[in-house]
Amino acid sequence: TKLVGLVGWRGMVGSVLMDRMAQENDFALIEPVFFSTSNVGGKAPAFAKNETTLKDGYDIEALKRCEIIITAQGGDYTTEVFPKLRAAGWNGHWIDAASTLRMKDDAVIILDPVNMPVIKKSLANGGRNWIGGNCTVSCMLMGVGALYKAGLVEWMATQTYQAASGGGAQHMRELLTQFGTLNGTVKSLLDDPKSAILEIDRQVIGKQRSLSEAETANFGVPLGGSLIPWIDKDLGNGMSKEEWKGGAETNKILGQGEGFGTPATPVDGFCVRVGAMRCHSQALMFKLKKDVPLADIESLIANDNEWVKFVPNTREATIRDLTPVAVTGTMTIPVGRVRKLAMGPEYLGAFTIGDQLLWGAAEPLRRMLRILLD
Ligand code: HSE
Repeated sequence: TKLVGLVGWRGMVGSVLMDRMAQENDFALIEPVFFSTSNVGGKAPAFAKNETTLKDGYDIEALKRCEIIITAQGGDYTTEVFPKLRAAGWNGHWIDAASTLRMKDDAVIILDPVNMPVIKKSLANGGRNWIGGNCTVSCMLMGVGALYKAGLVEWMATQTYQAASGGGAQHMRELLTQFGTLNGTVKSLLDDPKSAILEIDRQVIGKQRSLSEAETANFGVPLGGSLIPWIDKDLGNGMSKEEWKGGAETNKILGQGEGFGTPATPVDGFCVRVGAMRCHSQALMFKLKKDVPLADIESLIANDNEWVKFVPNTREATIRDLTPVAVTGTMTIPVGRVRKLAMGPEYLGAFTIGDQLLWGAAEPLRRMLRILLD
């Protein structure tokens, strides 16, 4: 059995990863070595077999023993440890949730239901660096990757509705705290069915505009009862980094564009933070290369992989199955609202949702482990 180092297994993504690995019995196939950056020498979790104490996540010699390392510790850790480990001659497989190495030429963005050929090709060429994609991109491609595989997409515009969890655990807490504060502000008025709605509204906006710094420390501004149309860094060219990732990573996952000698598909749009907990949603608009009958498009999407759930474009099915509340905690990727748009027969609309901690973060990592163990 291979020694597999696990770093960052206690955080939010790491915990979801541990749960999924336990559910799928991955631990039966490996000898896990648990690393820590805060509790070195402590007791490893129950999944441990022979390696029962926590090793130091910064101990290069200890890391070097592992044939495979999976990390959800975050970008700063990757930046510090990965170069040292490679410089020390380690040539094991590095599986990472952080974005640090994603766009490096020798790294593959892993999403095997979509890009197994890209993964296999890199493996055959000695690839060793396997990086999980941006959550929004991964969830989107799990839903509509079929259209790309079929070579149908001329371009795609995306409008995202991204959950608090994409920022991190503290962001989720902050959102809920804000909701609570706002509710508390107008509780007595809400309890009185005869109170005036505009008075409630006035008090809520007053509170939103005067939330304390502590209550907006993570998002910087109120998110509860509002939205934030900017995610990640300002690239200085009018784009947010999250928007840039949409185009850059989609193409890299598909093995096309810069570095692959084939044209990139333009992918662009706006990324927006909304008050959902952990599911990222996206409204998509495609310009197809040709007019394809809707029924053919539906069956392409529905039959692409076992996790896609095609949601009929009716009000009833949509509000039941195509919401963050319906999807959270499941592996299902619903795709709905599929219809031709008024701009012409090659213009297609769709709406898709994914749990950003599952397909958006943890799942591609454990699936890559399985590919390496095969
Ligand atoms: N950048 C994402 C977000 C996190 O903020 O929603 C996952 O890549």
